[in-house]
Amino acid sequence: MPLVNLKKVLSESIEKKYAVGSFNAANYQGVEAILSASEEMNTPVILSIAEVHFRYLNLKYFIPYVKNRIAQCSVPVVLHLDHGLSFDTCIKAISMGFSSVMFDGSTLPIEKNIEITNKLVQIAHMANVSVEAEIGHVGGGEGNLEEGSEVDRSKFTKPEDAEIFVEKTDVDALAIAVGTVHGPYKGTPDIDNSLIKKIRNTISIPLVLHGGSGLSDDDFRNAVKSGINKVNFYTATSIAAVEKIKQIINGPKKVSFPDLTKAATDVIKEIIKHQIEVFGTKPLKL
Ligand code: 13P
Repeated sequence: MPLVNLKKVLSESIEKKYAVGSFNAANYQGVEAILSASEEMNTPVILSIAEVHFRYLNLKYFIPYVKNRIAQCSVPVVLHLDHGLSFDTCIKAISMGFSSVMFDGSTLPIEKNIEITNKLVQIAHMANVSVEAEIGHVGGGEGNLEEGSEVDRSKFTKPEDAEIFVEKTDVDALAIAVGTVHGPYKGTPDIDNSLIKKIRNTISIPLVLHGGSGLSDDDFRNAVKSGINKVNFYTATSIAAVEKIKQIINGPKKVSFPDLTKAATDVIKEIIKHQIEVFGTKPLKL
């Protein structure tokens, strides 16, 4: 199956009311877990590489490997730059062969976010690459594994901002802040489904929910019912992999390093298969 862009992978998701999972890979094991889970489920997938994870990777060798693995995949796959923090990083990702890029201008004034996103969209679309943007701001982060992060309601996405943003940019998907954080939560997540519905009724492009880890199956099902089309999910897979490795290391048997990475990969794969089921992802004919 060929590499596809985000617009294509989400093209039926609004009408058929499902979401496609965007899972982050920060190493070779992550790539294998994401792609083999999706092949077993026979569903399209978004394989995301976040700019904050570039430090773990030698992109010069890693990206050709990923593209080759995707080319041999039995399901459509998007190679997506997650949270590109600058215009230049997004352009670099396009030149490396990503089929989709997120420019995260969520901490900028909206006019600046629109200006940079717009400039990026012009270039990306010429290369058949999709663009995701974010307005409002989803906080938290992987750095906060112990305490978890609190949701800041003042940063929730305003439907009128979403409307202006989409009008002024030709962006392909929009990440919205509706009660999630990246990484673990302080307290119980409380997603504002009425806000998702309002934004869904205001704009017609796919909506993205970041910060999937920590939400319940019902939280996801309700968010998808309300209008979410792409769900970003990562931290829970990383935590589960580490826990599995700890369990093996503390067990009675001496094991090899590949035994550990294989067991961790299998755990991530099972979680991803479960999430695909919960998101209701449907097969996509190309
Ligand atoms: P989690 O790590 O909280 O699942 O969020 C992932 C994400 O939103 C990546 O962009």
